[in-house]
Amino acid sequence: MKITVVGVGHVGLVSAAAFARWGHDVVGYDDDGAKIEKLLGGQAWFYEPDLDDLMAEVVESGRLRFMADPRAALCDAEVVFVCVGTPPLPGGGPNLSYVEAVGRAVVEYAQRDLLLVEKSTVPANTGKRLEQVIQRESTRLGNGNRIEVASNPEFLREGAAVADTLHPDRVVYGTSSDWARDLLREVYATLVAEDGCPVVETDVPTAELIKHASNAFLATRISFINAVAQICDRVGADVEVVAEGMGHDVRIGPRFLQAGLGYGGSCFPKDVDAFAHLAAQVGYDFALLHEVREINVGQRRSVMEKLESELWNLSGKTIAVLGAAFKPGTDDLRESPAVYLANELFKAGADVRVHDPVALEVLAREQPHLPRVDSADAALDGAHAVVVATDWDEYKAISPETYRERLAYPIVIDARNIHDPGAMLAAGLHYHAMGRRSVTW
Ligand SMILES: NC(=O)c1ccc[n+]([C@@H]2O[C@H](COP(=O)([O-])OP(=O)(O)OC[C@H]3O[C@@H](n4cnc5c(N)ncnc54)[C@H](O)[C@@H]3O)[C@@H](O)[C@H]2O)c1
Repeated sequence: MKITVVGVGHVGLVSAAAFARWGHDVVGYDDDGAKIEKLLGGQAWFYEPDLDDLMAEVVESGRLRFMADPRAALCDAEVVFVCVGTPPLPGGGPNLSYVEAVGRAVVEYAQRDLLLVEKSTVPANTGKRLEQVIQRESTRLGNGNRIEVASNPEFLREGAAVADTLHPDRVVYGTSSDWARDLLREVYATLVAEDGCPVVETDVPTAELIKHASNAFLATRISFINAVAQICDRVGADVEVVAEGMGHDVRIGPRFLQAGLGYGGSCFPKDVDAFAHLAAQVGYDFALLHEVREINVGQRRSVMEKLESELWNLSGKTIAVLGAAFKPGTDDLRESPAVYLANELFKAGADVRVHDPVALEVLAREQPHLPRVDSADAALDGAHAVVVATDWDEYKAISPETYRERLAYPIVIDARNIHDPGAMLAAGLHYHAMGRRSVTW
């Protein structure tokens, strides 16, 4: 099939490469010429494990090409995937103007019938608005081609995006005609035949809602265990063991019960807010989601409180922040709790030093005021305290002795619960985790 992917970012680029791997003839288009230029040079413009190899394979086979000209990219497509950003607006809803722009462009350039598929995360009934735009533009421009809208939400996780896309837990699509449904069946035929993943076929608003409900539910699990961690801190229990004990219950399961600094990234914070916003728009107060957000923000505050309880005044203190990315495996800093913390410390007058194994270049670009160091050791040397803010494997390997030897004061705030409290105590450290018995003397 001839597929065009509009927006070759974290979702679009990986999806485009996967479509090509499944045998389709794929064009990746982006309105940011610099990104297309980098891709034409054979490199992804962001860090994602295994992506460069997959790209090299499908580009070499000729099945994935990149274009900066929308007319050339869209004129011959049978299926167009919308993978542009839907960033948050101040009121809580998502900015859907990029999605609308794609709807207009498709009508302007399409020279055959095509299916426009929302892969970007959008609120329920965005498809209806897109259809309206398409209808009006088609009348205005006299484009008589059949252009229908479908929804095919994406569930990949940054840091594991290639594996998630090639072996998804499920494929969900919503359509409003047999024609559209059959086109999407064809898009995913190879994946389903080879991988056997479940497919959920439904209508457009239901597919749109599945995505928001999924992300809101995962965020709720994280906030739930973080609230439990707060209680653990106060009663002297260990949230890691509580989560383990809960997770053995098959009705609960062990995943997304990791207490810590809370969720971040370009999806959970925005999608929780967008889902609550949609609920309010249709007359339902989804109060649970407001609480999920508050608990998440509270985790960051509680790290600041732990630091202040140890260091008293933060002004003038040297504080190592290990990690900038919102989670391991990515250099994405959007809504990163680690960056939030570094900025709070910076504002409080601390001498912050941030390290991250892959995100320092992006940090320099996006947060140039934050001082960076190029190794964890350099961050620790002579610091009055360290905060572990991203749970990279590299940080899990730091021994208590290393902290003891390198830090000026032996204070470790483990905001991701990656270390063994017993070992930290044995090394004589002031160790604070999230919902685990804090070890001080
Ligand atoms: N990042 C994730 O882990 C993830 C997972 C699932 C779903 N999503 C959703 O997918 C969507 C995209 O997210 P992302 O992380 O890939 O964003 P991104 O910012 O990495 O990529 C979006 C791309 O779209 C391009 N773009 C914007 N407007 C355009 C236009 N009018 N024409 C052409 N290109 C345009 C941008 O230049 C950018 O390259 C969002 O709705 C997001 O919520 C993201």
